[in-house]
Amino acid sequence: MKQTARKHPKLDVFNQMESEVRSYCRSFQTVFSKASNAILWDKHHKAYIDFFAGAGALNYGHNNPRIREKLVQYLLEDGVTHSLDMATEAKENFLLRFHHLILRPRSMSYKIMFPGPTGTNAVESALKIARKVTGRTNIICFTNAFHGMSLGSLSATGNSFKRKGAGVTLGNTTFMPYDQYFGSSIDTSEMLDKLLDDPGSGIDKPAAVLLETLQGEGGLHAASTAWLQKIENICRKHGMLLIVDDVQMGCGRTGTFFSFEEAQINPDLICLSKSIGGYGLPMALTLIKPEYDQWEPGEHNGTFRGNNLGFIAASEALEYWTDHDFTKQLTKKSEIIRSFLLRMLKAYPHQLSEVRGKGLIQGLAFVEPAHAGMLSAEAFDRGVILETSGPRDEVAKIMPPLTIEEKLLHEGLERIEDALHSMFSSIKMKGKVSANA
Ligand SMILES: Cc1ncc(COP(=O)(O)O)c(C=O)c1O
Repeated sequence: MKQTARKHPKLDVFNQMESEVRSYCRSFQTVFSKASNAILWDKHHKAYIDFFAGAGALNYGHNNPRIREKLVQYLLEDGVTHSLDMATEAKENFLLRFHHLILRPRSMSYKIMFPGPTGTNAVESALKIARKVTGRTNIICFTNAFHGMSLGSLSATGNSFKRKGAGVTLGNTTFMPYDQYFGSSIDTSEMLDKLLDDPGSGIDKPAAVLLETLQGEGGLHAASTAWLQKIENICRKHGMLLIVDDVQMGCGRTGTFFSFEEAQINPDLICLSKSIGGYGLPMALTLIKPEYDQWEPGEHNGTFRGNNLGFIAASEALEYWTDHDFTKQLTKKSEIIRSFLLRMLKAYPHQLSEVRGKGLIQGLAFVEPAHAGMLSAEAFDRGVILETSGPRDEVAKIMPPLTIEEKLLHEGLERIEDALHSMFSSIKMKGKVSANA
């Protein structure tokens, strides 16, 4: 979201002491102190419904009691907290659970790498191994992609403001149009295939294609199953690896554990982070098809690859994926959000252009981009945390914890409806006043 210059006195300590780079605290101007599932309280005891969920890091809610119990027990038993990448019981248990609860039921065979604790670490490691395995340097990435802030990931990120922050030339990537970039009549996968076939296209043979199946930061554009399958075929045809960045869309955000399950594609490398840590704890995984696990020991390293609290929390969180009621509830909640957004689209056909997204990450695209930020501010005044997304911050994005209570979901949506109504009414009033002036 674009950050306003407004500085709230409640945030004096942060304004004076914290770097200018701070961002979310400029949009949500209060000091938070407590949280439970989908509610955050500030230090003045005002409650906020959380429709942001730590940008996808809190799929199982704030302070999930099941997970917290395991963490507290582990801490009280003097379980190892930090261990680099030494073998620990907590890690052993996580590896076994991930295999039994996630990989095996989906007939997936991957080696599991712990690349460092954040999403960008997972992306960097995937890019490195793809380059090592293929002996090529170029990576195909897509318009409006977001993959993280370190140089390799930033090279594959579309946003010009973020790219400029690198301060150096970002290279070894080629941007191609994402699915539907030119509308439904142009198949951008065919375009990619043709360019890769053509020795005169100027595109160096890529090591990999890196993609999000649904662009969380880039405006909630979702790739179709047909497009994803064609991209996979193009990867096979041109000897490129397929990397799915499931950092934000994984762990159930789109309704299934991996976001690409419906498309039935078979990525060579998968990046997971955010909610894999279960409790908002830093953790990331890079899943590597066994034949591509060609790392030398320690060739990719990092101090915080052994966050055992993350392993404990993640192991418990994976249990949700054995509960059919949980996945059924996801479908129901995503339908509730869909029908609400479609109703809003119908109510404001000149102000809203589209409903985007899928599962528990859906949103409204505004005709006038600034209106999305205005809605976020109006929602915040009504006690709802709602973020924007897209190259012009033109999409208001609804992404509550997957575990949000249905009643609270309805309440949050009602507050958004009220915020939209009041916002468009006051815009209309102002329009009339200036027309009469
Ligand atoms: C798709 C995607 N990839 C990578 C990242 C980077 O993750 P992190 O901020 O943990 O480095 C993000 C963060 O929002 C993301 O959405």
